[in-house]
Amino acid sequence: MIPPKQVQDVIDAARIEDVVGEFVTLKRRGVNLIGLCPFHGERTPSFNVNPARNIFKCFGCGKGGDAVTFLREHESLTYLEALRWLARKYGIELQEVERSPEQLAQIQLADALYIVNDFGVQHFQHQLFDTDEGKSVALSYFKKRGLREDTIRTFGLGYAPDERDLLIRHARSTGHNIDLLKKVGLCSQDGGRDFFRARVMFAIHNLSGKVAAFAGRTMLSPSASGANIPKYVNSPETEIYVKNKTLYGAFQAKKAIRQLDECILVEGYMDVISLHQAGIQNVVASSGTSLTEGQLQLIKRNTNNLKILYDGDSAGIKAALRGLDLALEQDLNVKICLLPDGHDPDSYVQEFGGDKFNEFVTTNAKDFILFKTQVLLEETKNDPVKRAGLIKDIVASIAKIPDPIKRSVYLRACSNLLEVPESVLVAESNKLITGTIKKREEKSARLPEAASDSSPYKHGEEWPTEYPPMPADGDVPPDFHAPHLPKKAALPPRTESVQELDIIRMLILYGNQVLEREGVTVAQFILTDIEESLASFDNPLYGQIAVECHALLLQDKQFDQHFFIQHESSAVCELAINLIATPWEFSPNWEAMWNYPLQNQKIPDLNFDLDMKQALLRFKLLKVMKMCDANQVRIKSAYQLGDDDGVTRFMKIQQKLNETRNDIAKQLGTVVLPK
Ligand code: CTP
Ligand code: MN
Repeated sequence: MIPPKQVQDVIDAARIEDVVGEFVTLKRRGVNLIGLCPFHGERTPSFNVNPARNIFKCFGCGKGGDAVTFLREHESLTYLEALRWLARKYGIELQEVERSPEQLAQIQLADALYIVNDFGVQHFQHQLFDTDEGKSVALSYFKKRGLREDTIRTFGLGYAPDERDLLIRHARSTGHNIDLLKKVGLCSQDGGRDFFRARVMFAIHNLSGKVAAFAGRTMLSPSASGANIPKYVNSPETEIYVKNKTLYGAFQAKKAIRQLDECILVEGYMDVISLHQAGIQNVVASSGTSLTEGQLQLIKRNTNNLKILYDGDSAGIKAALRGLDLALEQDLNVKICLLPDGHDPDSYVQEFGGDKFNEFVTTNAKDFILFKTQVLLEETKNDPVKRAGLIKDIVASIAKIPDPIKRSVYLRACSNLLEVPESVLVAESNKLITGTIKKREEKSARLPEAASDSSPYKHGEEWPTEYPPMPADGDVPPDFHAPHLPKKAALPPRTESVQELDIIRMLILYGNQVLEREGVTVAQFILTDIEESLASFDNPLYGQIAVECHALLLQDKQFDQHFFIQHESSAVCELAINLIATPWEFSPNWEAMWNYPLQNQKIPDLNFDLDMKQALLRFKLLKVMKMCDANQVRIKSAYQLGDDDGVTRFMKIQQKLNETRNDIAKQLGTVVLPK
């Protein structure tokens, strides 16, 4: 196993032109290199290597990717083998780490559970396809429901006959451990009864296609079964099955979701299977439980576009609305489509076919705001009190969208739809956002520990001990272009908000000054530039001020120092007065920290232009580094899940982030460094 930090080093070091050049003769053409494609026979070169973007692409056969992709394809290496190959080439010594005994035990347990589940699938499939009862009861049932045999196999469907301990006996006779059978929930805890009986079986796969759990749908008719036999039962949660992080069908849908850059979310097992069979393969199901954050994150790793497709009954609408807010918080673009009453996606596509289904969804999928508005308008009719509640409700949804640009687009749309002035909606939305920020502040005041939670690296113990120490805050790779810092001067802790205060200082002191070159005010310049980060200030007070200034700008209102001094919040007044009264004092180790002399220390007012741009760069550097932190967490989790694709993808994002970060650092360096 290679520690993530080293994977990053290797990927950073790999130059596509070097790697490809070992196998293909390349000639320079312009900024690119071209050669004969090694993946398909050709006489004229259409194989392109782009050193600037560090990728290759063949315009003949379409293959493309980075150095790792190239090696995997060309040399038939696995992901890890490709990394080792690159490490050797670039002389990076890999400290591949041994797993700890506990981890080995964990992996072994997981492997054993997968093996038992595999046995389960085979058993259920055997019962389905090879026994008379299976064929007459279950296979005919699936066929009656319109499923083809290839679909039945793709989804690992099966049958558990109505027998007390058929599976247990079969497991015994083939030497399987009954304790493991209990553990995955295939039999009762005393080992005496099969858990799934008289049910058609659905295998629930994890992302890499291993069977993590089962669901079984009863074959007993309601009258025969009495009232309390549940229609569906599920395996219990285990080391390999965490319900709220599992989406049914995700394995089978993964590729289509990426290709189409959209995920369709339905409720049931049969919905996923029937749609898949009809050629609509980017479908997953939440499977009865209400949608969770973990499930949405799973989706978000593959696409930002989510289409929620539920039944048209009131339960369906409620479920859709619940999922909606959660999805907005995750910054997903959400559309909603309700099926005609009485239909679920399964019944619809089985009755009308894939084309009609697509057509229906295309014409009926609504942007969430239209959807919510219509549903609620329907409910409230003409009751003005309820209508006011509705407006608040919708704005509350919009306020959950982290991206301020998207948010303002929705506020405008909403203003048109509801015939309410946009400024009212903006004010309401800002109030909610400020409220959220305040709540966060109160929470962090109560829980001082949790306040510094933003950087994962602070909690060394959260990282598996086998990893080498992760970079400390502010630790930067050698290619970092900022001025070299004196060894001892660490960057300010990222929670200290020095950079955020700097932005606020600019807004309060120089907000309404006009920048000569740009022809806009300092406030306009700053707030447009950092619009995307307005909601993610760490310091709630500074965040509140930034959001408020932004709202004023959107309403075309100017503000000057008096606005802050007269502010209704005493915290804002106090801050403003402090900033205005005392000439700005740079912290004593400022110079050591940033390694630039304070040219503008004496007469800052004349230098606000430069001063502000530096402050902006530092602020952006901070935010990018935070994004780096967050992305590292994703890399780590993909790595732990064994999700190689995920690791590669997040590594790429990491590369982009590193580039941005270096770019900002470089700008800071050139702007800041004295000759
Ligand atoms: N579900 C569940 N437990 C239940 C009922 C439902 O887990 N007791 C979940 C299943 O994932 C099911 C989904 O909720 O697929 C939707 O439920 P429902 O509409 O009742 O089932 P269908 O998928 O339509 O199943 P069928 O068409 O076979 O009746
Ligand atoms: Mn159904």
